[in-house]
Amino acid sequence: MYDVIVIGSGPGGYVAAIRSAQLGMKTALVEKYATLGGTCLNVGCIPSKALLDSSEHFHNAKHTFQKHGIEVDNPKVNLKQMMERKDEVISQTCDGVKFLMDKNKIDVIHGIGTFVNNTTIEVISEDKKKSKIEGKNIIIATGSKPNYFPGMEPDKKRIITSTEALKMKEIPGKLLVIGAGVIGLELGSVYKRLGSQVEVIEFAKQILPTMDLSIGKDFTKILKKEGFKFHMEHRVQTVKNTGKKVLVTALNKKGIEVEIEGDYCLVAVGRKPFTEGLNLKGAGVEANDRGQIIVNEHLQTNVPNVYAIGDVVRGAMLAHKAEEEGVYAAEFISGQKPHINHNLIPGVVYTWPEIAAVGKTEQELVADNIEFKSGSFPIRALGRARASMDINGMIKILADKTTDEILGVHMIAPRAADLIMEAVTAMEYRASAEDLARICHPHPTYTEAIKEAALSATENRPLHI
Ligand code: FAD
Ligand code: NAI
Repeated sequence: MYDVIVIGSGPGGYVAAIRSAQLGMKTALVEKYATLGGTCLNVGCIPSKALLDSSEHFHNAKHTFQKHGIEVDNPKVNLKQMMERKDEVISQTCDGVKFLMDKNKIDVIHGIGTFVNNTTIEVISEDKKKSKIEGKNIIIATGSKPNYFPGMEPDKKRIITSTEALKMKEIPGKLLVIGAGVIGLELGSVYKRLGSQVEVIEFAKQILPTMDLSIGKDFTKILKKEGFKFHMEHRVQTVKNTGKKVLVTALNKKGIEVEIEGDYCLVAVGRKPFTEGLNLKGAGVEANDRGQIIVNEHLQTNVPNVYAIGDVVRGAMLAHKAEEEGVYAAEFISGQKPHINHNLIPGVVYTWPEIAAVGKTEQELVADNIEFKSGSFPIRALGRARASMDINGMIKILADKTTDEILGVHMIAPRAADLIMEAVTAMEYRASAEDLARICHPHPTYTEAIKEAALSATENRPLHI
């Protein structure tokens, strides 16, 4: 009898298993695929960042090296080598998870985990062999899969999801992307930098419509300069593979049908929770009509010894959110009183410049009737930005009008993915904009834009603009 059985080895599941083992609980991890690490390591965060970095190097070699005084003759892409390096990064990272399972003496069982009842899991291996394991507590961490709407079903050949886009054998002449969200803009950036024409079809008015509106507005200008084309407020009706091409039909905002042709079409309209094969009914676990497993504030399902974490439950579909929930579930099971602040989970888009945000957007504060002050600072005003020729972007800080408490931080900036942590730390300690403004920031760094935006928010007195 295990103390904890975790189903799914993504960042939620494997971290839950490690923390359970650290707390002295006998732990098993069930994973249907041969490699550990889930979406994040195999077909998500890690491969996409590997290709983003490779393509950014190529882009720089082509477009900025000369200005830096570096002469390189006609750089070319070796897509096969680029993909091989990405695959090496994946396998090293997956092996790292395997090492951690061994180190923590976690039993890893490969196969599809299915509930027999709320304490018994049947595992069906690839060669159809069945075995049963028992656990006092079960943590479901089965993640998510790409979503699509009727008419845009991926055939995985020319109508593709992120999974196929990470394994392309050729650089598309023209890549159509449905959805100007995180995947659309990250993977769109990869192929734009490698030479594809990229056209994005989005039904909202703005790109990245769930982020602060200023981000979408400013970032559209940056991407248009890079050569992205946007069809905003277009509702996709159908996507057809016509042999060597794809044809998208969409209704524009006037209700007129338009046709857009390309070589491949990446469908990136969100992800959906994945529970197929789990037989939730076997344990009596309930899901909502969006397929998310319903959990309380302790990540417990309606069956008290069964927990669920990560993409398969409500909230941001992010690896670090899944990890925090993995730690929470393990600690709660062991009798501790853990804590997660779901309001301060940072979001990052790994384009260049990067985009990062934490806390409330301006539109959320308006909707909640919270009075706020706003201060922003352009990246181009920094010495560091000019030195590195990365001048695009801005940092915006929103603070409570009366108390000056920081309520939201939104940025488009080089290395925003790392910069955002200053804001997260400050907000966890409920700092005011003045607190940040009075902290000494190293010069010359991009962090100076945070200090300046805070000075601007607190008393409207930036120093360098
Ligand atoms: P998953 O990682 O989806 O893992 C679930 C695991 O459960 C899988 O291995 C699956 O095989 C297994 N499983 C499912 N059912 C069963 C079963 N019945 N039995 C056994 N095993 C089962 N997030 C970020 O924070 N940063 C990023 O940069 C980022 N980039 C991304 C890029 C892309 C292209 C994509 C698609 C996603 C990205 N994400 C990113 C999101 C991130 O990958 C997910 O939020 C994260 O992987 C969720 O973790 P999880 O543990 O909940 O589930
Ligand atoms: P998303 O939710 O970020 O964006 C989907 C976009 O598609 C939205 O802008 C939406 O308005 C648009 N859309 C929906 N239906 C449409 C239609 N019929 N026609 C045109 N546009 C339509 O989803 P995405 O990009 O697929 O990513 C899924 C999730 O994966 C993200 O929400 C995120 O949680 C995770 N992810 C995180 C990354 C990161 O942290 N850097 C990177 C990649 C993915």
